[in-house]
Amino acid sequence: MKTNTFKINTLIAAGGLLAGALALSLSVPTFAAGPDDSTMILDGGQEIVTDLAPGADSPLDRLYSGWRFRSPETQALQLDDFENPAFPAVDTGETLWNTVEGTEGKSCAACHDNAEVSMKGVRAQFPKWNAALQRPHTMETQVNECRTERMGAEKWKWESKEMLAMTAYVGLQSRGMPVNIDASDPGMAQWLEKGKEVYYTRVGQLNMSCANCHEENYGTMIRADHLSQGQINGFPVYRLKWGGLGSAQRRFKGCMANIRATPYKVGGDEFTALEAYLASRGNGLSVETPSVRN
Ligand code: HEC
Ligand code: HEC
Repeated sequence: MKTNTFKINTLIAAGGLLAGALALSLSVPTFAAGPDDSTMILDGGQEIVTDLAPGADSPLDRLYSGWRFRSPETQALQLDDFENPAFPAVDTGETLWNTVEGTEGKSCAACHDNAEVSMKGVRAQFPKWNAALQRPHTMETQVNECRTERMGAEKWKWESKEMLAMTAYVGLQSRGMPVNIDASDPGMAQWLEKGKEVYYTRVGQLNMSCANCHEENYGTMIRADHLSQGQINGFPVYRLKWGGLGSAQRRFKGCMANIRATPYKVGGDEFTALEAYLASRGNGLSVETPSVRN
C-alpha cells in the first residue's frame, strides 16, 4: 500500500494525543498487514464478494470489505447465522414487519407483502434519491416515511431497537447483492459531492479527515485496531463493543469524537450526504448486513 512519512507522522501525532487524552496507544508505523486473504463463504454455502477492482473514478486501488480487517474470531461470527449475534434483532425485525400499528391499521406486510421478495435488492440502493422530497432517503428516513405518512404510526428513533431491527431485517434481504448507488439524478450527484467534501475535510483537535485514516492508511494498526477502508456495506452492524446493533451514522459519530471533533447530527444533512458518498465508494461490494465488528 502507499504510504508516506507525513501521513504516518500525522497518525503518530494523533495517536500521541489520543494516548494522552484517552489512554489509547498507537502502533504505527508498521507496514503491516493490509487486508487478510480470507474468503467469505456463509454457512449456507453462499460466497460473498469482499474485494474487487473499483470503478474508474474511485480513489482506491481496490475495494475491501471491513470484514477482511477483522480477527478470525470476529470474522467467524459473521459466517454463521446461528453464531451471528445480530440475528435475534433480525427476528424482531421480521415480527415488526408483520405487526399492525398506527391509525391506518396496517403493517409493513399489508403493502409490501413478503419482505424476502419485495425487499430483495432494496438495501443495495440506499441511500437512494427521492424525487418527491428532492433529497436522498437513508433506510431510516424511508422506514419512518412509511410509518408516519402511510401507517399513521409514530416515527422510530434512529438508534432505537425497533429501527435497527427493521433496517437489519430489510438489509438482510439484499445480502450478497452488489451495492449500487445511483448517482444519475443531478440532485443526487450534488449530495454525493457534498458528502465527498465532508469526507476530505480535516476537522477536530487532531485536524484529520476520514480520508487520512480510511483512504491513506487502511491496513495499518491504530490502537489495537486494524484500520479498514471504513466501508458501510455491512450496516447496521453488530458491534461487540456496543453489545448490539448500530447504524453507519453512529459509527461516523464515534470516529469524529475520536479525533476530538464535534460530531454532526445523526440524521442531519452532513451525515446523510456522507453516508450516501461512502456507500457509493463501495459500489460493487456485496451487502453483508448484518455484519459483526469488534
Ligand atoms: C400503506 C402502504 C405502505 C405501508 C404500510 C408501508 N409502506 Fe413502505 N412503501 C410504500 C410505498 C408506496 C413505497 C414507495 C414509495 C416511493 O416510491 O417513494 C414504499 C417504499 C418503501 C421502501 C423503499 C423501497 C424501494 O424500493 O426503494 C422501504 C424500504 C419500505 N417502504 C419499508 C417499509 C417498512 C419497513 C414498513 C413498515 C414499518 C412500510 N414500508 C410500510 C407503501 C407502504
Ligand atoms: C484516526 C483515524 C480515524 C479517522 C480520522 C476516522 N476513522 Fe473511522 N475508524 C477508525 C478505526 C480505528 C475504526 C475501527 C477499525 C475499522 O473498522 O477500520 C474505524 C471504523 C470506521 C467504520 C466502520 C467500518 C466497518 O467495516 O464496520 C466506518 C464506517 C468509519 N470508520 C467511518 C469513518 C468516517 C465517515 C470518518 C470521517 C468522519 C472516519 N471514520 C474517520 C479510525 C478513524
